[in-house]
Amino acid sequence: MTDRANKPFLRALAGETPTPPPVWLMRQAGRYLPEYRQVRTQVGGFLELCYTPEKAAEVTFQPLRRYGFDAAILFSDILVVPDALGQQVAFREGEGPVLTAVRDEAAIAALSLDGFLGHLAPVFETVRRLAAGIPQTTALIGFAGAPWTVATYMVEGAGSKEFIATKTMAYGQPEVFARLIDLLVRATGDYLIAQIDAGAEAVQLFDSWAGALPEEPFGRWVIAPTRALVERLHAERPGVPVIGFPRGAGLLYERYVAETGVDAVGLDTAVPLDWAAERLQPRCAVQGNLDPILLVAGGEALDHGVDRILAALGKGPFVFNLGHGIVPATPPDNVARLMDRIRTRR
Ligand code: CP3
Repeated sequence: MTDRANKPFLRALAGETPTPPPVWLMRQAGRYLPEYRQVRTQVGGFLELCYTPEKAAEVTFQPLRRYGFDAAILFSDILVVPDALGQQVAFREGEGPVLTAVRDEAAIAALSLDGFLGHLAPVFETVRRLAAGIPQTTALIGFAGAPWTVATYMVEGAGSKEFIATKTMAYGQPEVFARLIDLLVRATGDYLIAQIDAGAEAVQLFDSWAGALPEEPFGRWVIAPTRALVERLHAERPGVPVIGFPRGAGLLYERYVAETGVDAVGLDTAVPLDWAAERLQPRCAVQGNLDPILLVAGGEALDHGVDRILAALGKGPFVFNLGHGIVPATPPDNVARLMDRIRTRR
């Protein structure tokens, strides 16, 4: 059972203000660590790593051993959900993800929840291994992509900057796009509940491309599906906090927090600190938002960035994190410097 009192990360999400603040970093496991690259050479592809519990658990633990983060995040990817729904998903070296694009009603109808959780069984086995091996004061985070962001990959068939195919479907055939989003709400809820039942103590919804939508469609395709997921999780697994990360939402962060009911919100790099302290932190815990490139630069620029965030957000419920994922060019020593700065500051 979760012992919240011993886990600063869960205390912060419950509205407390532990000192020093808890810290973990998005993409804390990954290519910037030589020990990750070593494990990566032992498997055929990236998805195989996600579906091999022993190795996925190992790479999840690697950054904890080095840095003693307050939370571990399950090692997996947001695109295992389309993979488990029957879409072809591949990760090509240096190219990012490639999927068979879902562009019409028939392609959406061909996706199926039959066998969905069975396909993801190795992920739940990874979560069980993590729950069994995690240090007592460290929390375990499960995650999924939010429906909008996962839908962009499914419709585009790859990463994208303009989202032309996805937006054309969302704007031109909203009732068709709604089928895809509704399927993802259902699948993502099932998936997160199974992660919680395997031992995840909090879950994060990554909406990396939330910032691509204007206000009105943001309400329909980001806020509404997220609210449906949060309501289901709160009803069916009460007490498990949900963190939303609507990257790039700008001023819409405020509506996102008010209308989705998330327990905490991840701030991207561009969110002004005093604004977040005033407008968001009174409603929920905030998490973020160091520029990941400051972890590449290091030195006094890094220290200054850390100090500003701690000064602005450290007086309320707060989890230190980055504004987006660690990049592979990050020198591991700079992460050690960051941890030292956060934990030795008075
Ligand atoms: O944070 C963690 O340490 C947990 C693991 C994690 C990964 N991806 C591992 C990964 C998490 C939480 C994700 C989320 C994810 N995946 C997001 C949302 C967050 C964000 O970054 O915006 C998105 C959009 C994806 C989709 C994805 N996965 C892309 C676009 C890529 C290719 C780009 C890249 O960095 O190579 C991935 C691959 C991926 N996911 C890697 C890792 C460690 C690198 C693959 C490798 O090791 O070869």
